[in-house]
Amino acid sequence: MRINTPLQSGSTKVMLLGSGELGKEVIISLQRLGIEVVAVDRYENAPGHQVAHRSYTVDMTDEVLLKEIIANEKPDLVVPEIEAINTKLLEQLEQDGITKVIPNVKAVQLTMNREGIRRLASEELKLPTSPYAFAKSSDELKKAVAQVGLPCFIKPTMSSSGKGQSRIVKSSEVEDAWNYAAQAGRVNEGVVIAEGQIDFDYEITLLTVRAKGLDGSINTSFCEPIGHRQENGDYVESWQPQPMSKVALDRSKEIALKITNALGGLGIFGVELFIKEDNVWFSEVSPRPHDTGMVTMITQKQSEFELHAKAILGLPVDTSLSNPGASAVIYGEHDCDAIVFENVDQALAIDGVDVRFFGKPLSLKRRRMGVVLAYAQDIKLSRNKAEQARSLIKTKPV
Ligand SMILES: Nc1ncnc2c1ncn2[C@@H]1O[C@H](COP(=O)(O)OP(=O)(O)OP(=O)(O)O)[C@@H](O)[C@H]1O
Ligand SMILES: [Mg+2]
Repeated sequence: MRINTPLQSGSTKVMLLGSGELGKEVIISLQRLGIEVVAVDRYENAPGHQVAHRSYTVDMTDEVLLKEIIANEKPDLVVPEIEAINTKLLEQLEQDGITKVIPNVKAVQLTMNREGIRRLASEELKLPTSPYAFAKSSDELKKAVAQVGLPCFIKPTMSSSGKGQSRIVKSSEVEDAWNYAAQAGRVNEGVVIAEGQIDFDYEITLLTVRAKGLDGSINTSFCEPIGHRQENGDYVESWQPQPMSKVALDRSKEIALKITNALGGLGIFGVELFIKEDNVWFSEVSPRPHDTGMVTMITQKQSEFELHAKAILGLPVDTSLSNPGASAVIYGEHDCDAIVFENVDQALAIDGVDVRFFGKPLSLKRRRMGVVLAYAQDIKLSRNKAEQARSLIKTKPV
């Protein structure tokens, strides 16, 4: 495995499709390895744009525009960081030998749509999941809800971060849930999934890395489980390691291994699982770093971003934990062009606390603008410190 000098002919070049806060950290990890990095996002001055060698602003569902950029740049690797990408084009470019997609086009296509990944997990791999049914109209949704039972979750099949998602407890709420899902779904597909509620004790992200060994074979390794708390389908707090019974952890690893083997390729995967006592249900999987995994920037020898960067380049990885820790999300709290973060000094004066501000140009009340990281001797103390620091930091419109 060789890495060539950036900004010279023959450089080793990686293109990020999607350059938000997760992409930004992947880019920083790639930069440290001397990779030439090109960042693409749909808006100017996206977080990753600010740390890449070159950047482009383009709607990545647009075949013509995206093709022009990839054909011009000819990156060795294309790394999708978001789901709203023209994957037909990626398939074509990979077939023509123009570039290689991480982890592979099939995995990107399957995971961008809840239907694809759910059918693979449940129907092909026989992994335990919540009961589910799909619907293309509000009438079909009524039947789907009757099938999976109440309470249940209604989600657009093409969406993430809780967009268009609702939890309903009675059948009179179906119509509203349908309308809410239909208007929020990405690349408006008009298909929603109804999922029966799993009454879990806690939920985890099991970061699973497929990386090459020196003999060329692919090894799978696991990070310590990350516990997290979600509000309205969006993560607000995470911690690592989540305490688990040996049986539940072994089952989790078995599920993660099966789903990542089926998806294939190199890189990190965020496997989302629900746990009740020793029972484990598969929820979904991201073929890339996971938002709840930002905590690894303070807990692991190599963060999930460094693990991803190394794995996709064909390098060996180390998933070991350094210390327990936690992360807490900082929201914009204001709809405005730009915000300032106040009291950062006070937050950082707390022992074991660090911060990341993403540098996003536009603030929204519920837009993730930064994250607090904290470490301590256990997760309880880490969570307390992260929450204390988060509440000290105030955002104000400029
Ligand atoms: N069937 C279910 N049973 C219980 N809780 C659920 C179920 N589906 C979703 N949830 C809750 O809602 C959260 C978000 O759901 P899900 O991960 O499917 O949505 P998402 O939009 O992909 O979110 P993200 O992109 O942040 O992962 C879950 O982490 C869980 O807390
Ligand atoms: Mg999720």
